[in-house]
Amino acid sequence: MNSKTIRKICCIGAGYVGGPTMSVIADKCPDLEVRVVDINKSRIAAWNDNDLSNIPIFEPGLAQIVARTRGRNLFFSSEMEEAIANADMVFISVNTPTKTKGLGAGQASDLRWVEASARQVAEFARGHTIVVEKSTLPVRTAQAIKEILMSTKNVDQKNKSDSTFSVLSNPEFLAEGTAINDLEEPDRVLIGGEDSDAINDLVEIYSRWVPINKIICTNLWSSELSKLVANAFLAQRISSINSISAFCESSGADIQEVANAIGTDKRIGNQFLNAGPGFGGSCFKKDILNLVYLSGYFGLPEVADYWEQVVLMNTWQQDRIYRIVLQKLFGTVNGKNIAILGFSFKANTNDTRESPAIRISCDLLEEGASLAVYDPKVSIERIREDFDNYSFENQGKWKKANSIPDALKNADAVLIITNWAEFYGLDWDYLATLMRSPSWIFDTRSVVNRNEIKNTDLNLWKLGEGS
Ligand code: NAD
Ligand code: UGA
Repeated sequence: MNSKTIRKICCIGAGYVGGPTMSVIADKCPDLEVRVVDINKSRIAAWNDNDLSNIPIFEPGLAQIVARTRGRNLFFSSEMEEAIANADMVFISVNTPTKTKGLGAGQASDLRWVEASARQVAEFARGHTIVVEKSTLPVRTAQAIKEILMSTKNVDQKNKSDSTFSVLSNPEFLAEGTAINDLEEPDRVLIGGEDSDAINDLVEIYSRWVPINKIICTNLWSSELSKLVANAFLAQRISSINSISAFCESSGADIQEVANAIGTDKRIGNQFLNAGPGFGGSCFKKDILNLVYLSGYFGLPEVADYWEQVVLMNTWQQDRIYRIVLQKLFGTVNGKNIAILGFSFKANTNDTRESPAIRISCDLLEEGASLAVYDPKVSIERIREDFDNYSFENQGKWKKANSIPDALKNADAVLIITNWAEFYGLDWDYLATLMRSPSWIFDTRSVVNRNEIKNTDLNLWKLGEGS
């Protein structure tokens, strides 16, 4: 296929990746028309809300970009057919969660939304269309997409000829909370494909703001696999440091000091060494489990076991925090008031998918605790849905607190799970007066400094340090 000038882009999926990624493309390429489509009409309505504080994703810097691009060259709609038919390039950025039923349940990715998207593209596309996998996908998914595109015979009404396709893999590496910076100044952009003209077209778009030496081109399978491996390595680092946090608590070593000491070795590096309540987010667990599934599929059980341990360690870390809370509170939390500070899986996002706060809170509710949950960005509806979706016997009760003091009123303990900036440097002299003695702080993110509580009767347990 000859290289073509890309004028119109469509992105299927207006989620945490599709929304921010397309906003940045529209911002950096004012000559391109970018249409983001989604089957979720309420999500599209929220993207189009005049009040920018209502756009569905909280991400620092995003609202400002949407403000200057929306209606200019960035459009959010549910008009799938028109957007696909007019597009020169279609990004597929739909959800790929872990399968819950059938073959591979609990490990393999559920590709039904990707397949549905490919079928929509096959049905509506006109002329030559470059299809870009933006979703994180199992290795060799591009082959399945190609087959769907090629097998669904589609006559281009305008040109009265078959429509044609090129498939590229272009996985996304943004992290939530820093998505805009990650998109504007990525460590790298990865493009996998076989059609050099299509690759050049995509390179041409990114090269408007990304230095060319940061755009890596590989074959399709390397690109798909690299995304899974990048997430597996990142998650592995967190499980590694979390395993050592438990070791520190038992041995008298301090996790902060250990992380600092090893992180100064350039070969190890100092990033992603913050011990915490275990990794959350929609991707680490699902992508590792997918790698585990694929390893089994390719007949590599030892490789599968190796990576599965990263996920098992993560669950163990969350479980162990709940047990410590229980043990410090004399073995029972029944009827006790516990403040949960932070419900999102990390700071600067309203996303709660796989948040450690869900499992830990539900375990405490199962023991009969009364929880007051405070999070600056997560809605009460979201928390309710997360509790409803978690299968457990809820013996306790919970409410959403409107402020930190509101959460800590009459609390026997406060459990810090997310490292929101506002949790640092709190006035513990004052907060301690609101709580019921003997009271505990359980700090899983190392946000409390022991000096800050020295004039209070608060007990402090810190992850990786102990009490
Ligand atoms: P998301 O659930 O926030 O968004 C996906 C959207 O796709 C939803 O709004 C859904 O309604 C829509 N959708 C599903 N099927 C559709 C269809 N047939 N037509 C139109 N719309 C459809 O998911 P996300 O977090 O944006 O993740 C998307 C992909 O990107 C996943 O594969 C994920 O692994 C990957 N990823 C996510 C992140 C992240 O930080 N969230 C980062 C990198 C990669
Ligand atoms: C992660 C990757 O960092 C992105 O590169 C990737 O694109 C994305 O997954 C994806 O594929 O979805 P994200 O999950 O948004 O991004 O956020 P991270 O900053 O990686 O944090 C993940 C989890 O690990 C959070 O719960 C965070 O609190 C935890 N974490 C992170 C730690 O406990 N310690 C650390 O040192 C770093």
